[in-house]
Amino acid sequence: MASLFEKVLAAQGMLGRADRVDLWFVPSEVGLNDRDQFWQLLSNVEKQRALSFKLDRDRGRFIASHGVLRLILAAYCRQSAKALDFSTGPQGKPALTNPAARIAFNLSHAAGFALIGVSCGSACGVDIEEIRSHVSTTEIAGRFFAETENRWLDSLSPDQRLKGFFRLWTIKEAMIKAMGSGLSTPLNDLDAAHIVQNGAGSVTVNANGKETVLWISELDLAGGLAGAVAVEGREHVVRIIGPPLIHSLSNSRPSMTL
Ligand SMILES: CC(C)(COP(=O)(O)OP(=O)(O)OC[C@H]1O[C@@H](n2cnc3c(N)ncnc32)[C@H](O)[C@@H]1OP(=O)(O)O)[C@@H](O)C(=O)NCCC(=O)NCCS
Repeated sequence: MASLFEKVLAAQGMLGRADRVDLWFVPSEVGLNDRDQFWQLLSNVEKQRALSFKLDRDRGRFIASHGVLRLILAAYCRQSAKALDFSTGPQGKPALTNPAARIAFNLSHAAGFALIGVSCGSACGVDIEEIRSHVSTTEIAGRFFAETENRWLDSLSPDQRLKGFFRLWTIKEAMIKAMGSGLSTPLNDLDAAHIVQNGAGSVTVNANGKETVLWISELDLAGGLAGAVAVEGREHVVRIIGPPLIHSLSNSRPSMTL
């Protein structure tokens, strides 16, 4: 598995570009041999986190997604995957400690997949969610969505509402993940109604005493998933690398298959 990824990475020309965000969509359910290879790449802290999962499936997903994350970031940073060092922001957002690389990243897990966003010079956030019918959408939307977002949601037909809820949820999550602010940013202060209406666009967020401009694109995902990417600053090209079931609703290049 590791050598396959190395070949793919080498073929993609993994130079970070200031106006581009790369999205890697990778399976996080792998066989035991691959899991062993990924395990060798992890730090002691990551190994401890992996071992804290009770379910073998969750442990395996963590090992694979963090192993792949290291391989991908290593290619951008021109460093060995094992040598990468991570720090954690005040609300838990992981980052590379090597500032010279100017590489920012973010990770999201759902339904046996990991979505890894990589940008150069600006922070990014990604989110994927499985569209689940047992979620109390009305209650959550009432508590956490802005008024305009709730109006948009109410305008949808009953068969579009569940998907609409998860589309908004992932956009808002990608925004707070780009800012790294976690739930310290009140979610109903983020108004993403025009993003969900247009598929992509910019939002200025005034939160925690700071003004941040985010550019956001929804991802059109198959397989019962919703997803979005947010980057700090101006519009970015979205380059998608992974199975061909993912499309950015802004300006993506054709996806490449692993
Ligand atoms: C933890 C949180 C960052 C995302 O959680 P999530 O959506 O459940 O999980 P995801 O799989 O998308 O993301 C988890 C990854 O985000 C990264 N992450 C953790 N804290 C982060 C932060 N503050 N900012 C950005 N990324 C963060 C980590 O890499 C983590 O992966 P790891 O645990 O394997 O290291 C946070 O936003 C949260 O708790 N959200 C609560 C969900 C909620 O109430 N949403 C309402 C939306 S309307």
